[in-house]
Order: sequence, then C-alpha cells, then structure tokens
Amino acid sequence: MHVIDLRSDTLTKPTPEMRRAMAEAEVGDDVFGEDPTVNRLEEMAAGRMGKEAALFVASGTMGNLVSLLAQCGRGDEIILGDQAHTYINEQGGVAALGGIHPRIVPNEPDGTLDLLRVKAAIRSDNDHYPRSRLVTVENTHNLCGGAAITPEYMQALGIVARERGLRLHVDGARIFNAAVALGVDVKSLTADADSVTFCVSKGLGAPVGSLVCGDRAFIAEARRARKVVGGGMRQAGVLAAAAIVALEQMVSRLAEDHANARLLSAGLSELPWVQVEPVPVRTNILYFAVRHDSLDARQVTDLLAERGILMLRLGTNRVRAVTNYHISSSDIEAALAVFRSICS
Ligand SMILES: Cc1ncc(COP(=O)(O)O)c(C=O)c1O
Repeated sequence: MHVIDLRSDTLTKPTPEMRRAMAEAEVGDDVFGEDPTVNRLEEMAAGRMGKEAALFVASGTMGNLVSLLAQCGRGDEIILGDQAHTYINEQGGVAALGGIHPRIVPNEPDGTLDLLRVKAAIRSDNDHYPRSRLVTVENTHNLCGGAAITPEYMQALGIVARERGLRLHVDGARIFNAAVALGVDVKSLTADADSVTFCVSKGLGAPVGSLVCGDRAFIAEARRARKVVGGGMRQAGVLAAAAIVALEQMVSRLAEDHANARLLSAGLSELPWVQVEPVPVRTNILYFAVRHDSLDARQVTDLLAERGILMLRLGTNRVRAVTNYHISSSDIEAALAVFRSICS
C-alpha cells in the first residue's frame, strides 16, 4: 500500500544530495570551533537571518531553550502565547532548567499576541514581581493553523518590546514557510528580533538540527548554554552538511507544500462533516474539526490509516495534516478520495 503520511514535516528524510554532502563533509571538533562545515553553516544561517552570528544546535527545543537561557536569569519572566510550542510542548524547560517564569497571553487565532495584552503583561518595577525580560512569538504558529506572522506585526511588537526594555525572541521553527507564504525576505521577519531559532529538520528536510541566530554577544552566551545542556557536538559537520543543502535547495520549494495544503483545504471544505480551521495565509499545516454524527477524530484517523492516509489526532475532534516534500498533488487527490469514501 502506498502510504501518504501527513502527520508531520519532521518525518521528511534527507534527499540524495544531502546524503552525498554528509558522506563527503569536511569535519573537525565543533566544541573547539574547528568544524569547517558547521562554521560555514553558521555563517550562512546568520546571513540569511540578517544577524551577526549563529549556533548549530540539535533541535528546535534546544534552540529555544538556549536562546532563553542566554537572555534571562532565574526569576526573570518571559511573555509568550498560551498556544506557544515553548509553553506547551517543551516540558516547561525554561522553568525547569532556567528558573524562568512564563507569563501567558492568549494567542489570537492568527498566531499573534494582542499588543495591548502584551503591554499589560509587562511588569512594573516592584519587589513583589518577577522582572519582565523577554517576549517570544512563534512564526509560523504551529498550533494556530500554521499561521504566518507578518513583517508589519513583527515591527509593531518590536517597538513594544524595545520601548519597555524587553528582548524579543522568535521561535521560527518554520520561519521559511512564513517568508515563502507571505512572499517576503525572511530578514523582514527577523529584523526586530534579538534572537531567532529556525529548524532545518522540518519542511527543509535535513535529518537533524536547528540554528540559533543573533548578535555575537548573545551567540557567545547561547554557546555556553548549549554546552551546559549537553548540546556540544563534535564532528557535527556531517549534520551541518545536510543543513547547508537544505538552505540552498529546499527553501523556495516550500511553495509547493503550501499549494498542496490549499488543495487539501479546498477539498476538505466541500465535506459537510469536516470544518477546516481558517488562516489568513495557508502554509503547510492544516487543522480541521470532525463534525460527524457517528465518527470522532480517532475513528476518522483510524479509518484513514487503514487506507494508508496518516494524519495526527489532537483531542477528540481536532486533526492535523502537514504537507511536505514527500507529498505530491496526486497524493492529496488520493487522500481526498478516501475522505469522500468515508463520508459515503
Ligand atoms: C513551532 C515549533 N517550535 C519548536 C519545535 C521543536 O522542534 P524539535 O522537535 O526539533 O525540538 C517545534 C516542533 O515541531 C515547533 O513546531
């Protein structure tokens, strides 16, 4: 059976070019700063994000963690959305390992944080309060339908943060999806941020890794934080080589994933028992609710799986589908045909 796996873009396997680059990578000890391929990747990543420097880390979770450890001390507070990956899906690592207090603001459906709520959440100087140190936003926003946050919003948030002396972090695990979907240079999404994490192991298809980007002083601190969480890697050039291919070859093709997600959204929207969650600009993530008289999300995903269509169930009614470079438009048509057969 041909399996069409729409559970996640993290399932993507390295391309033949990546495997070749990995096999041929020049390597050294990266903890000594002597891996030429890692150094090249970090320089490239910094350039793409419009920052002075970058750091190669094992994962998006590690990237967010070291970014926040590098900018906040124990008892400091970060402001973030109630749907943020860092709040929900990173084991509360900033609190557990860094003593950093999370202050939650509800995410708007488009993934943003209401600026008035952010302003209201910033603490005044008072012995009773933690110190507000940093605001973090996610772009694209995973749990908010893969929503792409615009340069205009980032600019406005940057002003709010700077006016109150707060730093700004972007969890840009899928920031290239945002840039491609919005048709903007990725730098326009990072210009206002002090730190950015982006992943090469999601839609970009590399097997491992994320990059943390910012100014040199911040990256020096992030490097220390990476070491204390055990993230100092040695001949990491074998991984960096694939990441370089990802940045060179896999960014512009994300548009295909977005087109396939739109195709899926349009087809699903024709079914009376499926309610697709809307977003202003579709990227590669799509969520829908199951509104069937006799089927819940578990039953639907089980029926789909029996026919080779894999999607991720969240709770009783919510389902996630993520397009990626292994998924073609004919796969989407095939998945929609299975959906229609469930309905009948
Ligand atoms: C928005 C966002 N941030 C961070 C992460 C964490 O990345 P990783 O799984 O590489 O730790 C994810 C993972 O899906 C994510 O969606």
